[in-house]
Amino acid sequence: MSRKLENKVAVITGGNSGIGFGTAKLFASEGAKVVITGRNAETLKTAAAEIGNGAIGIVSNVAEVKSFEPLYEEVKNTFGKIDVLVVNAGIILMAPLEDWTEEMFDQISDINYKGVFFTVQKALPYLNDGASIVITSSTVAEKGIAGSGAYVSSKAAERALVRSFATELASKNIRVNALSPGSIDTPIFEKNGFSKESADGMNTFFASAVALKRGGTVEEMAKGYLFLASDDSSYMTGADLVIDGGFRNL
Ligand SMILES: NC(=O)c1ccc[n+]([C@@H]2O[C@H](COP(=O)([O-])OP(=O)(O)OC[C@H]3O[C@@H](n4cnc5c(N)ncnc54)[C@H](OP(=O)(O)O)[C@@H]3O)[C@@H](O)[C@H]2O)c1
Repeated sequence: MSRKLENKVAVITGGNSGIGFGTAKLFASEGAKVVITGRNAETLKTAAAEIGNGAIGIVSNVAEVKSFEPLYEEVKNTFGKIDVLVVNAGIILMAPLEDWTEEMFDQISDINYKGVFFTVQKALPYLNDGASIVITSSTVAEKGIAGSGAYVSSKAAERALVRSFATELASKNIRVNALSPGSIDTPIFEKNGFSKESADGMNTFFASAVALKRGGTVEEMAKGYLFLASDDSSYMTGADLVIDGGFRNL
């Protein structure tokens, strides 16, 4: 049976951890030449070795617009033009509204909003005909979550970018879709300074709030990214694939 991404070049931002890492492993097993990015050189190296199929890791901070050209040049020189771009790097911060600082707000919007915009814009000269772009939004993009206005609105901004990018890039034969995970078991809370207690509390809250009564796994997300990345979703653009155990709709 032929593999779904045989010899396709896939770039996954935020691919050394969590959802991006799980997706990178599935893409490589489906034949893709995978490039993962992140800020941590050491975890990128370890993750690339585990992903296999010749995967490479490149240090690149999505909050710095100047970092994209060297990244995409290195991808082109190593593997050629890009068939699949998974725009996944992101952070979460939460605090009562009165405690939010300008610095926290800028951090969220530089990575989750501006970073996403320029990840796509700067990739344009490097994308193959028929490329698929998948942007990681979140089920909470259409919900109200206390303490989380800056994060939730950054995820809603990503959803809005998907609509505009998909409209604009359709004439170039490039599809753009969102994938909106629910509560997924990843190190995101620990990595962004939450205590174990509050991370556990958050996971317990979401697990009880969804119809399926559990959080999701990175493997369940990876299957969604594979669908959007491959020809299986060839008639889909501008859409939002919500994989959240029923949190948003039920
Ligand atoms: N886990 C969930 O429940 C959940 C739910 C909905 C949506 N999401 C979204 O899913 C995406 C992945 O999250 P995750 O749960 O897998 O979290 P994670 O394990 O913390 O992974 C986040 C990834 O983003 C990278 N990253 C963060 N800031 C970056 C920057 N400035 N430049 C480049 N890379 C950066 C991290 O790499 P470095 O640390 O090396 O920079 C890491 O690879 C995020 O966009 C998140 O908002 C997650």
